[in-house]
Amino acid sequence: MHCNQDNYTPLRLSHKADLLYLLRDVDEVYRRSSAGGSKMIRSHQHQVRKRLSRIIEADEHLLLKNPESKPVTIHLPRALEIGARGPLTQMAQTIGRVAPLFTWEYGYDKIPRKLSQCYAFTEIVSPSGPVPSSNIIIGLVLFAPGTVYPQHAHHEIEESYISVAGAWSENDAAVFAPGSLILNRSGHQHRITVGDREPCLLVYAWLGKDERLLKPNMKFSREPKKS
Ligand SMILES: [Fe+2]
Repeated sequence: MHCNQDNYTPLRLSHKADLLYLLRDVDEVYRRSSAGGSKMIRSHQHQVRKRLSRIIEADEHLLLKNPESKPVTIHLPRALEIGARGPLTQMAQTIGRVAPLFTWEYGYDKIPRKLSQCYAFTEIVSPSGPVPSSNIIIGLVLFAPGTVYPQHAHHEIEESYISVAGAWSENDAAVFAPGSLILNRSGHQHRITVGDREPCLLVYAWLGKDERLLKPNMKFSREPKKS
């Protein structure tokens, strides 16, 4: 457990100012972003903010993990640079300050070698920390330029992505620019592609029952091509 140097008490969220600011930035983006007239998206935004504000209020002890990088994290500085010039300037800058704490992961038991070089995610709020929560997961997912993230769905989890940097597409249906919010309802199959020239950084929020968020059981819908 990480502790205050002086008295060895466990750290709370309020002791890590930038982590707290990052949660406030996420809250702000979910408050500010339009629902585009969709009641479903409005309700999702509302739920994210409600659960987030409880976490901020609770000011629980942090469950800090060991920081870990993955090959794709060499693209993070560029993604943050692009993000800081876009509509989520504040969030991109806060992410940059919190980045040394991040534990980048794959989330799959087996991952194709090619994907392992161009994708990783890090959790910010989750049952296992660093900010503990049972009913919401908030994290970041980073893709290298040209990534194809294979088709998958999340069972009993409602997922939203907020685009911080880069241009990307879901199911070849549209190109999303920074500031966009995309909702994937439980069971919705999706496949992500990323533009060739720049990395892509997304904030994601997962809403689901406690037991599902504890074990999201991530797997691809089809076996991705080996590489
Ligand atoms: Fe997803």
